[in-house]
Amino acid sequence: MRRDSRFLAPDYVRRIVPYRPGRPTDLLCSCSNLDELCLLASNENPYGSSARAIEAASTCLGKAHLYPDGGGYQLRTELAAALGVAPEAVALGNGSAELVDMLCKTFVTDGQCVVMSRYGFVQYRLSAQAVNAEIVDVAPFAGSMVDDLATMAETANARQARIVFIANPNNPTGTYVTREQLDGYFAAIDPRILTVIDQAYFEYAGEADYPDVVDDLKAGRNVVVLRTFSKIHGLAALRIGYGVGSPDLWAQLECVRLPFNTSAIAQVAGQAALADGAHVERCRRLNLEERTYLGAEFDRRGISYLPSIANFLMVDLHMPAKQTFEQLLQRGVLVRPLDGYGLSTCHRITVGTRVQNERLLMAIDRLSPVHDE
Ligand SMILES: Cc1ncc(COP(=O)(O)O)c(C=O)c1O
Repeated sequence: MRRDSRFLAPDYVRRIVPYRPGRPTDLLCSCSNLDELCLLASNENPYGSSARAIEAASTCLGKAHLYPDGGGYQLRTELAAALGVAPEAVALGNGSAELVDMLCKTFVTDGQCVVMSRYGFVQYRLSAQAVNAEIVDVAPFAGSMVDDLATMAETANARQARIVFIANPNNPTGTYVTREQLDGYFAAIDPRILTVIDQAYFEYAGEADYPDVVDDLKAGRNVVVLRTFSKIHGLAALRIGYGVGSPDLWAQLECVRLPFNTSAIAQVAGQAALADGAHVERCRRLNLEERTYLGAEFDRRGISYLPSIANFLMVDLHMPAKQTFEQLLQRGVLVRPLDGYGLSTCHRITVGTRVQNERLLMAIDRLSPVHDE
């Protein structure tokens, strides 16, 4: 019997538009000196990893022939102690993105509804599409671009959604929902619906009304909190993130988790990073200084951007993003155009070091006018 010339995935898989990383491979190949590029496209930490994490990871390489502890016992225990929860309330992922994926795989099936923000982190959509979910995205408040939690709760209740994904702060807008808004949401949402609150940028947020969602979990709300070592801890390459949620929920997730989903190197680096509060504090302070600096410089130039509590800013250059992206790249600055979201003149720009930010501003100042094609 002859094999079909094309072995096809189901329609719902073929409809997925694969994730486009902020640093295309061809760019990596053509640019021999990456250090010369200002990497402002992926919200990485421009100050790097904690030296203690690098040392722990390097030492661990000597045991590269051994499988890791698949359950990540030590890191989970240390995270649990830091958060004031039981170790069984913590799950590890190959980046927090993998936890998004596993949550969809475990709890959502054909045609069930998943609710998210229209301009939310793209992984929610990809993972929901991969399990053939019905995706309902809710527009944020016009102007402020803050997530409209009341409408999200109403929509989720009406559709009997399985999961609501909320990023706080949100990527790509940098906006956040407050403790008061979140309390209103939990008062309205059907408690049978799981709410996943992604706090990938938690450590950057210093605002008094910014909610720590682990408190909601402790209060018995049906919520999972996602956090990561990829951002302020500067370990994006090692792929390690974690979720905090009910042990019963994680026990079910075990059914779909690959046995060794996080590496030994990532686990020990995570432990060391967690213990290095000084590195986190320094990165938080520098990010705040540089975000304020960039904001002031944008104001001076009349460039519009959204107020952000994270390590990136959503900036509207009022010219087609595809072309401004190319022009900035020619000057060695890599940013993330948001035309894929329908935000055709906007970019998401990571807050860099002062040197990087000055290069960005210089490149913006030299943009030549472009028009819609
Ligand atoms: C809101 C949000 N969640 C999750 C992630 C993914 O993080 P990780 O590297 O842990 O998979 C990102 C990365 O950009 C993000 O912006």
